[in-house]
Amino acid sequence: MAETETPPGAQRFIPADAASLDDLRGAAPGCRGCELHSDATQVVFGRGDATARVVMVGEQPGDLEDQKGLPFVGPAGRLLRTAVGDAGIDPGQVYLTNSVKHFRFQLRGKRRIHQTPDRVHIVACRPWLVAEFALLRPDVIVVLGATAAKALLGPSFRVTRSRGVPLPWPDSAQRAQDFPIGPAQLVATIHPSAVLRADDRDTAYDGLVADLTVAGRLLAA
Ligand code: URA
Ligand code: SF4
Repeated sequence: MAETETPPGAQRFIPADAASLDDLRGAAPGCRGCELHSDATQVVFGRGDATARVVMVGEQPGDLEDQKGLPFVGPAGRLLRTAVGDAGIDPGQVYLTNSVKHFRFQLRGKRRIHQTPDRVHIVACRPWLVAEFALLRPDVIVVLGATAAKALLGPSFRVTRSRGVPLPWPDSAQRAQDFPIGPAQLVATIHPSAVLRADDRDTAYDGLVADLTVAGRLLAA
């Protein structure tokens, strides 16, 4: 599909009568809402308890997630789990999902190189996120990095400027229309893979834990 073409989007592949996360999970493999399904191994849906009060939103599955069919099972996921623990958040209260549910990559030889999803992929896939939120009705939303920020807060939000601060969400009438889910608090932070790439990993990790601690306090309040 050409870059300029608008993909049809996920909405038509989401059962209108979905009553549970399992209903959504069952329908997700059939999604043809954008072209990313065609090269990926499988869809990677969110995971966690239906009663989880925190939803953490990442970017898209990575290479390992694509192979295993589960989000955050690679190095970034391992780091995130450690950070969640260090922030004092009960992992049983966390539902993990992604803004885009198929792995976008470029083949170089035999290697699959991660490619950041474009805005068209984020918009095409967002109905899944809306549907997950509608069933979970989280109290606290954690935005992990720029792609999730684009999915939830629009293109002008800057994670570096607004991280670690509780923000009321939905943050506008338009967003309330896009995500009809009732009020929550949102905390933005960096993506765990940015910690893995940082020159000063310890400082980057401490920053992630500090932001997650803010989310943890909201949960306890
Ligand atoms: N990074 C993400 O954003 N999501 C995953 O599932 C894995 C890595
Ligand atoms: Fe559907 Fe999202 Fe996969 Fe595109 S990335 S095919 S919209 S599930």
